[in-house]
Amino acid sequence: MTTSTSPSASGTTAEVVLEADGLTKHFPVRKRGRELLSRAVRSVRAVEDVTLRLHRGRVTALVGESGSGKSTVARLLAQLYPRTSGAIRLHGEPVDTKGGKRFRAYSKRVQMIFQDPFASLNPVHTVRYHLTRALKIHGNAGTNAAEQEQALVDLLTRVQLTPPERYIDKFPHELSGGQRQRVAIARALGADPEVLLADEPVSMLDVSIRLGVLNLLRDLKERLHLAILYITHDIASARYFADETFVMYAGGIVEGGDSETVTQRPAHPYTQLLIDSAPDPDRPAAEVKDGGTGEPPSLITPPSGCRFHPRCPHAMKVCPEKAPPRFAIGDDGAAAGAAGAVGDGAHFAACWLYGDLSDADRVKLRREDGR
Ligand SMILES: Nc1ncnc2c1ncn2[C@@H]1O[C@H](COP(=O)(O)OP(=O)(O)OP(=O)(O)O)[C@@H](O)[C@H]1O
Ligand code: SF4
Ligand SMILES: [Mg+2]
Repeated sequence: MTTSTSPSASGTTAEVVLEADGLTKHFPVRKRGRELLSRAVRSVRAVEDVTLRLHRGRVTALVGESGSGKSTVARLLAQLYPRTSGAIRLHGEPVDTKGGKRFRAYSKRVQMIFQDPFASLNPVHTVRYHLTRALKIHGNAGTNAAEQEQALVDLLTRVQLTPPERYIDKFPHELSGGQRQRVAIARALGADPEVLLADEPVSMLDVSIRLGVLNLLRDLKERLHLAILYITHDIASARYFADETFVMYAGGIVEGGDSETVTQRPAHPYTQLLIDSAPDPDRPAAEVKDGGTGEPPSLITPPSGCRFHPRCPHAMKVCPEKAPPRFAIGDDGAAAGAAGAVGDGAHFAACWLYGDLSDADRVKLRREDGR
């Protein structure tokens, strides 16, 4: 087993558990009408060249607007989709499961939690059934009835559904949304995993109970040293909950670094737009921008070069011509090194504003006031 470590936001080292390198997913588009006569194969380029690492005992947020590819990244990491290209490594070992025993062994270590706990639990079965099944599939149900009962009680206690006997024989419809999501988390923990891929785990819950579920996940990170991928639209919750944050736009990661830095000193124009348009109780409503100009691009025919260039107020001549690599950003918010030379966990932005460009490349494409 190859194990690598990398510096965390706090300067300590953390073990890399799961990593994606150049992960890419294109979904073929079914041909219709006159397209049937053409040989051209069209595809939705949903995820393009995504590189990220999940560390033991840390939460990594993946933030972006609808359709930016967040769920596709999670499903690729969970091996629920075959990838178009790129590599996934678990503790440094390449992962390529195609169902069967190897997939079961992988899913024991890498579990996914979905947005809608009602849809992910079978309405005709009780909490006991769901959890017992997970424990049995992953070989954690003990060797006799008493051990199995204790494992069930332990799972419910771990997700703070106590006393366990109040919940164990309930059906999903007898529980609140927050309690259902806790059961879904307990089911994932039944595998005794190292990684949790949480795809918008609180977005369907009432605002009043979101914090409780996020605090539970944070507690699991600390007590079980889980590596957690936290997918969200809400960059403010990433600041509160995640150690590290990656921002996705139109299939690619455009910025990353420790959450405090990315949310307080965003470098990429898209991250700045996301933060300016997020509601903030400390900011007057008049200062909250409306999400900026333009719509997310088509992923069948994505914009050339930087995919954000049609919406970017700072777009320059080079932007539609060449896709920007990752540039390291220093504490002063300026470029801090050569293209691509970004240390693990360091703040970076994939944006030509931080590149060493000629004056010709820097010619603005439009006025910054959008006119
Ligand atoms: N199975 C599929 N077949 C074809 N296209 C798909 C498939 N799954 C996702 N896509 C497309 O890939 C792109 C990314 O989708 P994805 O669901 O990963 O985005 P997302 O960031 O999770 O969005 P949301 O925040 O709305 O959940 C979208 O354009 C979507 O339509
Ligand atoms: S690369 Fe250019 S278009 Fe893209 S975000 Fe940076 S300045 Fe804007
Ligand atoms: Mg999604």
